[in-house]
Amino acid sequence: MTSQPTVKTLLILGASGDLTGRLLLPGLARLVARGHAQGLTLVGAGSDDWTEDQWLERLETSFADANSQADSAGKRELKRIRETTAYRQLDVTAEGQLAKLIAGLEGPVAVYFALPPKISERACQALTPDDVPAGTRLVMEKPFGSSEESARELNRTLAALVPEDHIHRVDHFLGKATVLNILGLRFANTFLEPVWNREHIEKVEIIFDEDLALEGRARYYDGAGALRDMIQSHLLQIMALMAIEPPASVDERDLRDAVATLLRASSIKAPYARNTRRARYTAGTLGGRQVPDYAKEEGVDASRNTETLAEVQVDIDNWRWQGVPFILRSGKALGTKRKEAVVTFRPVPHLPRGFTGVDSPNQLRIGFGPDTLQFDVDVNGPGNVLSLDRATLQAELSASELLPYGEVLEGVLTGDPLLSVRGDTAEDCWRILEPVLKAWARDSVPLEEYPAGSDGPEGWPA
Ligand code: BG6
Repeated sequence: MTSQPTVKTLLILGASGDLTGRLLLPGLARLVARGHAQGLTLVGAGSDDWTEDQWLERLETSFADANSQADSAGKRELKRIRETTAYRQLDVTAEGQLAKLIAGLEGPVAVYFALPPKISERACQALTPDDVPAGTRLVMEKPFGSSEESARELNRTLAALVPEDHIHRVDHFLGKATVLNILGLRFANTFLEPVWNREHIEKVEIIFDEDLALEGRARYYDGAGALRDMIQSHLLQIMALMAIEPPASVDERDLRDAVATLLRASSIKAPYARNTRRARYTAGTLGGRQVPDYAKEEGVDASRNTETLAEVQVDIDNWRWQGVPFILRSGKALGTKRKEAVVTFRPVPHLPRGFTGVDSPNQLRIGFGPDTLQFDVDVNGPGNVLSLDRATLQAELSASELLPYGEVLEGVLTGDPLLSVRGDTAEDCWRILEPVLKAWARDSVPLEEYPAGSDGPEGWPA
């Protein structure tokens, strides 16, 4: 995607917040520095009473990295953005305030709601169709709603304001180059498709184990937990790309139709005590530093039983995948950082007698940071020629120059919803998880514990 923006003004709501500083502005800066945001004006708005200088300071810091790598044209563009930007203080939920701001901006405007979900919802409810001129794009951060019903309600609110293809529900994993590489790997090669099914694949694991702990995000995270934070959005999207039927094109309609069809066939089945697991970290040492017990972290309400590690088995009830478990797992404060999708193939139907050594199934591993592709095969070992040994074919894949948020923003600015989650899919992801959320709320599944820095509770396979 390299076309120039159709959007004239990017309005970021929540401009003084953490997400804007840490992810949005650095992503935007890469785009700007590569000349992909020509003619764009940036406006920041927030509830904080910031001066223009405070906003400029934030831009300076968030743009620094991209600026240091930019050529002279890129540096000029970054400077232009800084010279033409403005900061406005407003209460987005107060009637008329956001509408008035939008009306004063050069359109088309993309309004990025980098705000807590409840506030975004109220801000959208405060808008009327007359407040959003034709061409306006609404960009919603995750989580999109907090249940199937609330996602549906939010979809209704948004649909009354702008057409579906002008709504961008952000899932920055769809902007990760290696996540998109799943499509190239699967659909631009012939060798995988004949074996990419229940006949040949035993299981698929999608793992996102982080060595980060709470990092001061209690206000958001304690109300979310690992299941909502990672599995409901990012990991289900990766699963969908791993499992969809080959689309006729990778334009937004074909690809998002395929994803929606796949997710409609997916569910997490009872018994939840067997098909799901949850755990919470206790005090421990992580990378040489002491991490406090999650339950005692500032801002955490221990009685909420928020999980920091979640694992679910998703079943996809269609011809291709019937009976193949898709295991999705993500957790915080784990000793080993592991971010990958692992496809485990079935064993050979008959290993010729006479072979010795380890006979392991083939595994294809797609790493999401570092971005790698690995294929584990059994070969004859170096010593005894009939002794099997493991070899790994490995490739380093290139990460995107733009950063995931840069990719996502490029879609917003050029009016391409390909990397956005479609409305029906956003609801369906909640539908898949809701029975688990209910079972966990009933305490049907024990909340296990693991020390920070460990590889999870005892007995969980690595
Ligand atoms: C975010 C989650 O959406 O994704 C975080 O809220 C998580 O909890 C993050 O750490 C992981 O994404 P990335 O791009 O930082 O690997």
